[in-house]
Amino acid sequence: MAFDIEMIRKVYDQIAERVDKARTLTGKPLTLSEKILYAHLWDGTPSKEFQRGKDYVDFAPDRIACQDATAQMALLQFMHAGKSKAAVPTTVHCDHLIQAKIDAKTDLKRANETSNEVFDFLESVSNKYGIGFWKPGAGIIHQVVLENYAFPGGMMIGTDSHTVNAGGLGMIAIGVGGADAVDVMAGMPWELKFPKLIGVKLTGKLSGWSAPKDVILKVAGILTVKGGTGAIIEYFGEGAESMSCTGKGTICNMGAEVGATTSTFGYDASMDRYLRSTGRADVADAANAVKEYLTADAEVYANPENYFDQVIEINLSELEPHLNGPFTPDLATPISEMKEAAAKNDWPINVEVGLIGSCTNSSYEDISRAASLAKQVADKKLKTKAKFTITPGSEQVRYTIERDGFIDTFDKIGATVFANACGPCIGMWDREGADKQERNTIVHSFNRNFAKRADGNPNTLAFVGSPELVTAIAIAGKLDFNPLKDTLINEDGEEVMLDEPRGYELPPEGFAVEDAGFIAPAEDGSGVEVKVSPSSERLQLLDPFLPWNGKNITGAKLLIKAFGKCTTDHISMAGPWLRYRGHLDNIANNTLIGAVNAFNQKTNFVKNQLTGEYGGVPDVQRAYKAAGIPSIVVGDHNYGEGSSREHAAMQPRHLGVKAVLVKSFARIHETNLKKQGMLALTFANEADYDLIKEDDTFNFIDLESFAPEKQLTLEIVHVDGSIDTIKVNHSYNDGQIAWFKAGSALNLIAAGNA
Ligand code: F3S
Repeated sequence: MAFDIEMIRKVYDQIAERVDKARTLTGKPLTLSEKILYAHLWDGTPSKEFQRGKDYVDFAPDRIACQDATAQMALLQFMHAGKSKAAVPTTVHCDHLIQAKIDAKTDLKRANETSNEVFDFLESVSNKYGIGFWKPGAGIIHQVVLENYAFPGGMMIGTDSHTVNAGGLGMIAIGVGGADAVDVMAGMPWELKFPKLIGVKLTGKLSGWSAPKDVILKVAGILTVKGGTGAIIEYFGEGAESMSCTGKGTICNMGAEVGATTSTFGYDASMDRYLRSTGRADVADAANAVKEYLTADAEVYANPENYFDQVIEINLSELEPHLNGPFTPDLATPISEMKEAAAKNDWPINVEVGLIGSCTNSSYEDISRAASLAKQVADKKLKTKAKFTITPGSEQVRYTIERDGFIDTFDKIGATVFANACGPCIGMWDREGADKQERNTIVHSFNRNFAKRADGNPNTLAFVGSPELVTAIAIAGKLDFNPLKDTLINEDGEEVMLDEPRGYELPPEGFAVEDAGFIAPAEDGSGVEVKVSPSSERLQLLDPFLPWNGKNITGAKLLIKAFGKCTTDHISMAGPWLRYRGHLDNIANNTLIGAVNAFNQKTNFVKNQLTGEYGGVPDVQRAYKAAGIPSIVVGDHNYGEGSSREHAAMQPRHLGVKAVLVKSFARIHETNLKKQGMLALTFANEADYDLIKEDDTFNFIDLESFAPEKQLTLEIVHVDGSIDTIKVNHSYNDGQIAWFKAGSALNLIAAGNA
């Protein structure tokens, strides 16, 4: 599918020199993670050692992948970069906008009707800019990437948090916001704080009911949802080598659930087998030629405590199947303890639905093992008690498992096969009866299980397990069914046990597919027209933001003085607003509606200084914009924490806010504001936050001499005519000041000056 062997060879051609240099500079053996990071420096061959958890470093990723929800704004922005093609190989995957309801065919047809304008836009913009397009139904981004693009020792970014899945094929793959993807597509570096490193040593070997999923469920229980923050998790040991490549993908995928930057495994025979089986023998051959650079130095794994910031050891031979949940993926319960835990916590024991698949667990191995259990239903004269659904991760997997009879086997237990898409994993599941909000239990093999995540019902308790455990529990219909010990009563009244699951790492007959769903872009896209209807409510072509006029900003009104926590969700809410992710003017109607007004402790209720009346934040801001009056937003500590979504910076900018002045910023949001041509400022004296009154007007005194490391002076004019003059800090360097002057970073790139 047009994977770029020349690009991969180039990475491998450079890897020895770069890694050897890094080893000399650091004066120690290197982990795999360090090798990949040092091999992908923007400046080429390393010239200094970086401090983990401290230094911000510019990298040059090899690939980008975007999913349909996040790609919309990213590509709308990229259109302004003035480039004829994405600077690095990029793909777009249509998977998030397909609701699961009836079955694959019906649901896909409906999605193509309801979201056709989004799909048409993404297809046309991909075609124009040399981006590979995976149409609706082709599969879920991370499974498709693993099958087609991931390669050992590579670095990729993706606009989805589970991009980390590609670590299963020995990559450093990291989820980012759209703005970061746009930078890299436009040929700019990508910045990351050099991560800390957690080593997980896997001894022993999985057997029986235990699966790779249980490794990460166990790790989540140990590290909790925050334990991996700022770190790469590197797995190693005989247990790692004995596991399939797709199993490794599952483990890396759920590294997102412990907050890890990413996870990865050293190159081994399972990866070689997977590459060959997915039609990439040339990648496997190229990797084999540099394999010592695609895993850590031997000394690292021999004495891991000397080289990792934290080391965890798990013996796979003793690992029990786990169920994690409800409502959080780190509440880990070994299946042998579930009876007690469920009783103690009053979790509903009857399981309504078992769902397998998703980007996390829909490999051939997963499906074949689950099917071996489904087959026993007829063989042992059982009846499946819960409903059962499958969301295959890709058309290639779906086609192959259908050919090999597994779908037929699932059909016989009354299963529903949903489209090859995210569906129930992201709340795109029109589950019958969910609106009644009844307390109920489901089990699934996905990754996240927060309240409302699957079906929108806050009272659905979702437990995460391996596909084989989910299948067994769906057959039994009981959350506390332990297939290692418990029996089931069959039609003849006999007690029977399920046999251990059995499957195939890879399809014995090889993978097959008729139409994988890939559409290659035009060689020369210059004549391709991007399809956006001017009357669309979901998509809107962007107008470049206007450059700074070179004058001090004066007469700016206070829009809101936000009190306490103000995350990107408070600035640009998700939920129903996701529909407008590609339409800046429409989504701007949620700007800061979650922020608390410091003067009345209410949300979305601020004073319009032009009328003296109170109104919603977007409405008041639109009134200022219509009157040609600039405005500023004031905030508290860690303003803009949360996600990296660029909408939180673009929306205020679009509505005419000129500056955001806070006690402190979350770093990514601060950078996003700078990229969009806003002034991101902090109080030199935090107590000055208290000087700001509801009717204040602001004048910048010395913006005309805006320069790095030079404070700015701001006049606060109160309604009684009194004036406070304060100093504000900023962290702009020369390049970032150029973004401000040009109106945005993209404007500067488009002008060919970045
Ligand atoms: Fe989709 Fe769920 Fe994966 S939303 S990308 S299947 S985590």
